Amino acid sequence: MSTGLRKGLTSYGDASFSLFLRKAFIKAAGYSDDALDRPIVGITDTSSDYNPCHGNVPALIEAAKRGVMLAGGLPMVFPTISIHESFAHPTSMFLRNLMAMDTEEMIRAQPMDAVIVIGGCDKNLPAQIMAAASADRPTIVVPTGPMVVGHHRGEVLGACTDCRRLWSSHRAGEIDEAEIETVNGRLAPSVGTCMVMGTASTMACITEAMGLSLPMSGTIPAPHAERVRLAEASGRRAAEMAVSGGPRPSELLTPGAFRNALTVLQAIGGSTNGLIHLTAIANRTPHRIDLDAFDRLGREVPVLIDLKPSGQHYMEHFHHAGGMPQLMKRLGDLIDLDQPTVAGGTLRDIVGQAEDVPGQTVIRSAEDPIKPVGAMAILRGNLAPRGAVIKHSAASPALLQHEGRAVVFTSIPDMAARVDDPDLDVSPDDILVLQNAGPKGAPGMPEAGYLPIPKKILANGVKDMVRISDARMSGTAFGTIVLHVTPESADGGPLGLVRTGDRIRLDTPGRRIDLLVDEAELERRRSEQAPTGTPATPDWAARGYARLYHDTVLQADEGCDFAFMRRPDQA
Ligand code: FES
Repeated sequence: MSTGLRKGLTSYGDASFSLFLRKAFIKAAGYSDDALDRPIVGITDTSSDYNPCHGNVPALIEAAKRGVMLAGGLPMVFPTISIHESFAHPTSMFLRNLMAMDTEEMIRAQPMDAVIVIGGCDKNLPAQIMAAASADRPTIVVPTGPMVVGHHRGEVLGACTDCRRLWSSHRAGEIDEAEIETVNGRLAPSVGTCMVMGTASTMACITEAMGLSLPMSGTIPAPHAERVRLAEASGRRAAEMAVSGGPRPSELLTPGAFRNALTVLQAIGGSTNGLIHLTAIANRTPHRIDLDAFDRLGREVPVLIDLKPSGQHYMEHFHHAGGMPQLMKRLGDLIDLDQPTVAGGTLRDIVGQAEDVPGQTVIRSAEDPIKPVGAMAILRGNLAPRGAVIKHSAASPALLQHEGRAVVFTSIPDMAARVDDPDLDVSPDDILVLQNAGPKGAPGMPEAGYLPIPKKILANGVKDMVRISDARMSGTAFGTIVLHVTPESADGGPLGLVRTGDRIRLDTPGRRIDLLVDEAELERRRSEQAPTGTPATPDWAARGYARLYHDTVLQADEGCDFAFMRRPDQA
């Protein structure tokens, strides 16, 4: 098979001429024949002025290039899409699949024997790993790493669990305008990803557990010199992989690796988004994520990491306590240590090197867990025939079994318009329901599942209510929140049949979520809203990428990838 610059020649009908032309153009950039004869390591550039979570990417690229060259390879940096959570309209999830397609095609189209993907903010690592799984070129992932913590009035703060908590306090009138502005400047004090166990940290930890990145890559803070050295080491290793031709993602993304990822997702109190992303990644391989198996795993895997939002600490504390190698060591037999890693050996080699930090309290033992069972549960019932998820580690225990009256918002704009209306008929025991906020409904399945508590309820000191939607939720959020209700209401799911005043029962221990309305009445409502004729394409999906998204996006239980992007044998 051709390698280096000879790989994937542009088609002109004359391979020798294609290579001649390619060399002529690249020499315009000053490359020597010696450089052009080396194995090539591509490096993605996801730096962007719109993405402060990737603010250290230029330094990481420089270090990765140094590592590649120290090992005798030729680094070639190329741009791809970069997505920041709060700079993506309508949502970052809407764009994840576009980034995955872009990254996959650029890996395929350009000559490279191995590739380093550098990313961090929530959707970037999932998109890059989906791309790597499909392109199946030897790949090392370098996460950008978490921010360091902020401080305010003697309190440690972090994006974005504390963003939400303090904003709620502001809404309740406990924090005035001037103070919330001060807090605004202290929540994200450095470049890097959110430093709680949000989606970015979750995916970085899972990536390490699946053996796709070097040890400690999930937790080293973004501004630390250690992260730059990690990028250099990743460059060296990628150059070796460019020569040896492996391991490829298909050799690392095994059933055991996915099981390890799901175990870690439960044990770290990870983001619910991680489940959607892992499902999408698995569907790019011959393997699948089984939601019920994930739920069973949750009954045997304890939450061991004391990190917000499920616990008290932040990512840098996790790192200084020993990081992922120490966590996997403490998970013992729950982790399959025979899984291969991109470092060349197995997880057993990495766990064998785990640092034991005396006196640390962030990574607990199985005998002294944060929670005796995992972070998440899968719910089913007549309200969610294909499943819903609840992060019960970050919920109010008293609400995990609850029956209440539904207060329904038919869309995000409807919720925004009415939730703080003093005349809204709502009490603390009610259940807030948000419809039409799923993959197609909103569109892009926004992180609107963390419905705000109505101001008049907040004013009474109530901080949590049961909330149900087909939306997602930031991994940084806290509350008794049922998410990813599937099928979504905009796709004919029963969530769309709920009316204000209906009774709903949440039974987390029993894994049930039920609408207490008889089937005849539900059928009557269904027939009332049944579409006549060909369903109209909504205005937002009239053309371009939005049209592709609307017509082909899958539901949450299938990872929200495009149907045609799965491996053919998964379709
Ligand atoms: Fe980028 Fe949180 S906004 S990781």
